[in-house]
Amino acid sequence: MKSLAVLGSTGSIGTQTLDIVRENPEKLKVKLLAASKLSQKLIDQIKEFKPEYVYLAQKEEIEGVKVFSGENGLQEIASLDIDLFINGISGIAGIKPTYLLLKNNRKLATANKEAIICLGEVLKEKYSEIFPIDSEHSAIFQSLQAGKKEDVKRVILTASGGPFWNKKNLENVSINDALNHPKWKMGRKITVDSATLMNKGLEIIEAHYLFDIPYSKIDAVIHPQSVIHGLVEFKDGSVISQLSCPDMRIPISYAISYPERWETGVKRLNLFEMGKLEFFKPDEKRFPLLRLAKECGEKGSFYPTVLTVADELAVEMFLMGYIKFTEISQIVERILEKADFKKPENYEDVIFIIEETKRIFKNLYKTVGGKIA
Ligand SMILES: NC(=O)c1ccc[n+]([C@@H]2O[C@H](COP(=O)([O-])OP(=O)(O)OC[C@H]3O[C@@H](n4cnc5c(N)ncnc54)[C@H](OP(=O)(O)O)[C@@H]3O)[C@@H](O)[C@H]2O)c1
Repeated sequence: MKSLAVLGSTGSIGTQTLDIVRENPEKLKVKLLAASKLSQKLIDQIKEFKPEYVYLAQKEEIEGVKVFSGENGLQEIASLDIDLFINGISGIAGIKPTYLLLKNNRKLATANKEAIICLGEVLKEKYSEIFPIDSEHSAIFQSLQAGKKEDVKRVILTASGGPFWNKKNLENVSINDALNHPKWKMGRKITVDSATLMNKGLEIIEAHYLFDIPYSKIDAVIHPQSVIHGLVEFKDGSVISQLSCPDMRIPISYAISYPERWETGVKRLNLFEMGKLEFFKPDEKRFPLLRLAKECGEKGSFYPTVLTVADELAVEMFLMGYIKFTEISQIVERILEKADFKKPENYEDVIFIIEETKRIFKNLYKTVGGKIA
């Protein structure tokens, strides 16, 4: 029996992780559930999975369960005796748990790309121990097993392209349009990132750090069918990839069951139904965040962290209705122009860069009456 901690249990990754637990009750036991607040969803999960522990960002008492909270609580959960921690927390809130878990040599399966990117310069040596959950990185993790790392010529991340990849004018797209992802049902922040193609940019940086592969060997292609999740080309010309119906329960399950494979209950891929597979080059003019992310990745140092934080803040503004879709990239670009820090060497440096980026953002963009002043 493997014990699990599900961080972000009420979110898209978290609830799908709990589906895997339901599918494998004889193999998995949830020991800890973590969310930002006590919601009805979390109460229902506590009743169903009966964890020993709960972590909440906001302090609360819950009868019959040991509750950890706040910064100290994170420290405590990172030293619990649990076989595998799943990190499905969204955005930069996932950084501290990732840091503490890796520092404490806990086994970690993570979907939280923001943490991988922001901690990339300071925790690189720990990344080979992580089980990736992002579908593209899981596909690459699986494909890399077909050969030696020194024989890898190229790694290709596929992107569904989101709702707008072939739309000409993005000036007036609405929040609902941006949240209407054609293939994946995900949290709001990553859904907007998919629509701007920032998600693919972040994933390129994530792949660079997770697999220790130079940017010159990482490509991204639009593949609207979302059946091929990632490909690895080896020096003999062979390309190995992983295919499946687009369903996060497959990469989540594999991160938990590795090196075994378990039943997931996911719809099987039907090649006749699938018909054709298409691939297109992403347009970096219409989707400048993809270009910016690549540039930040190549520059390294503080740039990937500033990019990640600036994007999260700009996406929040968009989701609150303060800015247009096309302004997300303009804000990120402007913040990157203003940012200038020394190369982060430790966790404290990363946190300093995050806080300073937030300060730059606040100084540039004050909101008055639901609009940017
Ligand atoms: N969803 C996908 O299919 C998918 C695919 C690939 C990668 N990812 C990555 O996975 C991560 C999660 O995405 P998601 O779509 O699952 O997000 P989501 O649906 O928005 O869920 C976020 C989860 O994080 C929790 N959370 C937020 N702040 C927290 C804090 N300070 N402490 C503890 N828990 C906190 C939320 O709890 P509350 O409900 O209490 O707020 C919720 O459970 C992101 O980094 C995303 O890029 C997601």
